[in-house]
Amino acid sequence: MKAARSFAGLLLCAVAPLLAQRGAPPGPANPFLGKTEAVAEGETLYNQHCTKCHGAGGGGGDIGPAIVSADRLDIGVSDAQTFNIIKNGVAGTPMSPQRLPEADIWKVVTYIHTLRGTAIDNPLPGDVAHGEQVFWGKGQCGTCHMMSGRGGLTAPDLSNIAGTRKARSISDALTKQQHRVYGSGGAHLQALPVMDSYLPVYVTTADGKIIEGVLLNEDGYSLQMIGNDNQLHLFDRAKLRRVVVEPRSLMPTDYDKRLTPDEFKDLLAFLTRQGRPAPPPARRGGPPEPQEP
Ligand code: HEC
Ligand code: HEC
Repeated sequence: MKAARSFAGLLLCAVAPLLAQRGAPPGPANPFLGKTEAVAEGETLYNQHCTKCHGAGGGGGDIGPAIVSADRLDIGVSDAQTFNIIKNGVAGTPMSPQRLPEADIWKVVTYIHTLRGTAIDNPLPGDVAHGEQVFWGKGQCGTCHMMSGRGGLTAPDLSNIAGTRKARSISDALTKQQHRVYGSGGAHLQALPVMDSYLPVYVTTADGKIIEGVLLNEDGYSLQMIGNDNQLHLFDRAKLRRVVVEPRSLMPTDYDKRLTPDEFKDLLAFLTRQGRPAPPPARRGGPPEPQEP
């Protein structure tokens, strides 16, 4: 018993400094985090001072690397580290110390932070409760989409939409036919692929019944679909009279016209709050291993 206690004590000693390190990120905290006006000012400053090297939206340019990306783990540095790089530059490279007041540097950092995170990190302003009403009411989103355990099955579950997408890509999904823009970490693709993972299908059975829904799977012998009745249907292909698969999903992309500007804004305020923040990015080299006591 005594041995066990002192062993636990040793373990605590070894782990405590590590815990402290995790809890408090190095350097000062970003004073503008979550402030929408600072993001907008930061974007303007970024476009004036950084786009020429790092490209629009941090996607990378001829001289500077991408500073916002999904596929590079070391890009997820803290705001304090980004601040230091902008203030002090990287010696021996074109990244010279940027001559900006500290407050302006923080605003640029805040803008970069929004580009790096998903919607949940920087939810859009608006009346969230009203947005929820629009989702289930006028927008009819729930006839196709599942949200927090309620709704339809013929479209992707949106319960974690703000944890996986940027605010911009959510609003594009509602307004543009070609909109699948961002990977989870935020690299900007040049081309926008058509949404084609939930294809509408119309099946006519041997007895002339027509069933509509989305295609799950098909091969030469069988076809599986989710009907608009939210039921799974399995068919033997040989027994079907007709199968029509549409090349494009039924997601309406004119919600900026179907809804009033206020309804649209509030819907986005609601959507950009649905989800969990992504786990913090892995650090270069991974976390240090605790020492054996
Ligand atoms: C003259 C071109 C130029 C300008 C202007 C410039 N940068 Fe850079 N920046 C670079 C280059 C080149 C690097 C890569 C340095 C290196 O090799 O480590 C870099 C690196 C960085 C990094 C670190 C990237 C990483 O992955 O390690 C950040 C963050 C950054 N710049 C932000 C900014 C911001 C914000 C601005 C505007 C305030 C800016 N830079 C202006 C060229 C530039
Ligand atoms: C008629 C059915 C239907 C309705 C109504 C509908 N959607 Fe969709 N939605 C879809 C389908 C199907 C997809 C998937 C498209 C694909 O990937 O092929 C989709 C995709 C999306 C996406 C992108 C999901 C992702 O993972 O990137 C978002 C966001 C979205 N819908 C939000 C909404 C909202 C908000 C509403 C209501 C204002 C709505 N949808 C109404 C069918 C619908």
